Amino acid sequence: MEVIRVEGGAPVEGAVTVEGAKNSALKLMAATLMAPGVNTLTNVPNIADVHVMGKVLKYLGAKIDVLGEHELRIDTTTIDKWEAPYHLVAQMRASTAVLGPLLARFGKAVVAMPGGCNIGARKIDMHILGLEALGVHFDIDHGDIHATTPGGMRGALVTLDFASVGATENLMMASVHAKGTTVIDNAAREPEIVDLANLLNEMGAKVRGAGSPVIEIEGVGELRPVTHRVVGDRIEAGTFVAMAGLCGRPVTVRGFEPVHLGLVLKKYELMGIRVERGQHQVTISRDAPLASVDIQTLPFPGFPTDMQAQTMCLLARASNSSVVTENVFENRFMFASELQRMGADIRIEGHHAIVHGVKAFSGAKVKSPDLRGGAALVMAGLVADGVTTVSDIHHIDRGYERFVEKLQALGAWVTREEVPDPETDDD
Ligand code: EPZ
Repeated sequence: MEVIRVEGGAPVEGAVTVEGAKNSALKLMAATLMAPGVNTLTNVPNIADVHVMGKVLKYLGAKIDVLGEHELRIDTTTIDKWEAPYHLVAQMRASTAVLGPLLARFGKAVVAMPGGCNIGARKIDMHILGLEALGVHFDIDHGDIHATTPGGMRGALVTLDFASVGATENLMMASVHAKGTTVIDNAAREPEIVDLANLLNEMGAKVRGAGSPVIEIEGVGELRPVTHRVVGDRIEAGTFVAMAGLCGRPVTVRGFEPVHLGLVLKKYELMGIRVERGQHQVTISRDAPLASVDIQTLPFPGFPTDMQAQTMCLLARASNSSVVTENVFENRFMFASELQRMGADIRIEGHHAIVHGVKAFSGAKVKSPDLRGGAALVMAGLVADGVTTVSDIHHIDRGYERFVEKLQALGAWVTREEVPDPETDDD
């Protein structure tokens, strides 16, 4: 099996450029279904999840040319299916992002119910409730969601129970051709939502208010294909920012908007990390001990859940105690139990993790629980005594392009290695 091997103590410093945002690119790819013709996306990250979304679009009939490592030409002229099959949805929950586009284009869709994953149940009840308000009718049959619009779609006011990113996106896309105006209240405000709204408006849609809690979509006719650059990945950037804050030497992280990491950078400054903000970049350094702060994950502009593991790694080395509260997912502390194997002192109580800072981590064999937790385990290994090997690194490859190469370029003693799988060696 493949592992990432980290030897602690390397002088990590220099500069790294992040890719386009995974959590935008996947939805922009799905949105090309709504604009028949040749769409070109640039700054697309070369990661496993993008490859899976490419498989979904090809299954539906799209033709995809990879024009360069980060440029996709997606021809959606002849889409002859409206079903996202289980074997693809099971690989990646984000495949459900084709639901809105297929409803907009065909007025019907069949999407496999997404299973749970390592961080929680990942239901789509808010997607369904919101779409029903637009006139969509759902039948659940043998694990598949059959969506139809017997009387067409009409605009409506939809108030989300929770500012769900996925539900906001599916509603925004499905309502583009609805008769009349749709208002999404308590909408997600993430920068990736704004990127999607910008793409839809470039295609000829009329979406107003993205980035605020109230998004208004006026129904329009056919959309036209476009060329669009994916917004920089604030979470990949935040991951390298956290690493630099942990290691202490100066690291410049390029290719994203610092304002998209507002609260994260502010919390890190309170922890004693120096942040120099620039044009599409930050420079990070630290020469004081890490101070403890409390963290509550919330929808944007609150503290992002996708930065929780990386931040817990920092807090586990801080001078006092902190409380990390995970409000977005019901089961996103597995990283903490792996970090305890490296000597962290963390107690989980429901949605809270009480973190007592320790003076050192010791290298150990650990398992990546999800893509952010996996990256955070590698981060812990950078400052651990001895060697850390992280397994289940397919999670990391889902969302981080050339992760090991980028770390090596920063001077980290990190390699990808093939090792015998202890589980299969037993028999
Ligand atoms: C997106 O997931 C991201 N994934 C996640 O990033 C991110 O953590 C999350 O937004 C929150 O920011 C992609 O964009 C591909 P939600 P999504 O709908 O859309 C519950 C990563 O590491 N919920 O905002 O699934 C849900 O179970 C990944 O890159 C319902 O109960 O997130 C979760 O507990 C991890 N019913 C919470 O709401 C619904 O209908 C937030 O989910 C929808 C969601």
